[in-house]
Amino acid sequence: MADQAQSTPPTAPEAPEARWFGFRPVDPATKASLVRDVFDSVAGNYDLMNDLMSGGIHRAWKAYLIDRIAPRPGMMLLDVAGGTGDIAFRFLERGGPTCHVHVCDINESMLRVGRDRAVDRGLLKGIDWTVGNAETLPVQSRSVDVYTIAFGLRNVSRIDAALAEAARVLKPGGRFFCLEFSRVVLPVMREIYDRYSFTVLPWLGQIIAGDRAAYQYLAESIRQFPDQDSLVRRIEAAGFGQVRYRNLTSGVAALHSAWRI
Ligand SMILES: C[S@@+](CC[C@H](N)C(=O)[O-])C[C@H]1O[C@@H](n2cnc3c(N)ncnc32)[C@H](O)[C@@H]1O
Repeated sequence: MADQAQSTPPTAPEAPEARWFGFRPVDPATKASLVRDVFDSVAGNYDLMNDLMSGGIHRAWKAYLIDRIAPRPGMMLLDVAGGTGDIAFRFLERGGPTCHVHVCDINESMLRVGRDRAVDRGLLKGIDWTVGNAETLPVQSRSVDVYTIAFGLRNVSRIDAALAEAARVLKPGGRFFCLEFSRVVLPVMREIYDRYSFTVLPWLGQIIAGDRAAYQYLAESIRQFPDQDSLVRRIEAAGFGQVRYRNLTSGVAALHSAWRI
């Protein structure tokens, strides 16, 4: 699948998000490599950090995503920015041996951790791993039943290019899901969450992963990402229908879903 249809890079005007790395203005040409450096640095501790930072809540969010996908025999999932394989493993465990998942991520280090985890779980069939950019997917048009991107869209340089690619690779009638950090809806909770994000997260990053800056970037990139309704509009603009979202943990995260028309 990986080598069949490399799409041409989008020529759309520069996206505003490409100019920001967290709160830091950057040359758009450098953003992808800055993001790659972050995940190179955290790959080895990524899964442990997820559990520590979220108190394990990310597992419930991911379980909800799998519930919404409702894996069926023979289903083909493309998990973009799939990293260390969390979504892929859950999908295969639920969907059984006739399902297939293609994990695509820009970062080789994250995929390497994912492959090792797959071996540890005895998951050797039904999964393949490709280094690739969400904005120029090395995937054939109209070839996948379900597209997922979990905590990945926030990191891409051009969100609209990634959404256009999602629409391209999905079969008509296919499902799109984006699980991402979003805007907390309860003001009192927002205040607590802000304090937590800008103090505890970088501190945990320093202690556990030895990289404070990577987790400062995490907190900042969440605030730079479009809120729930803005993201709905951008998914619609990419040509999807019935775009909906559901807030998780009062909007700390949100699951956006849509149909490929
Ligand atoms: C926070 S991790 C999420 C990993 C996994 N989806 C999960 O939920 O645990 C973000 C991932 O996005 C990947 N990523 C960042 N920019 C990307 C891009 N332009 N294309 C593909 N993957 C990208 C990173 O390498 C990283 O593995």
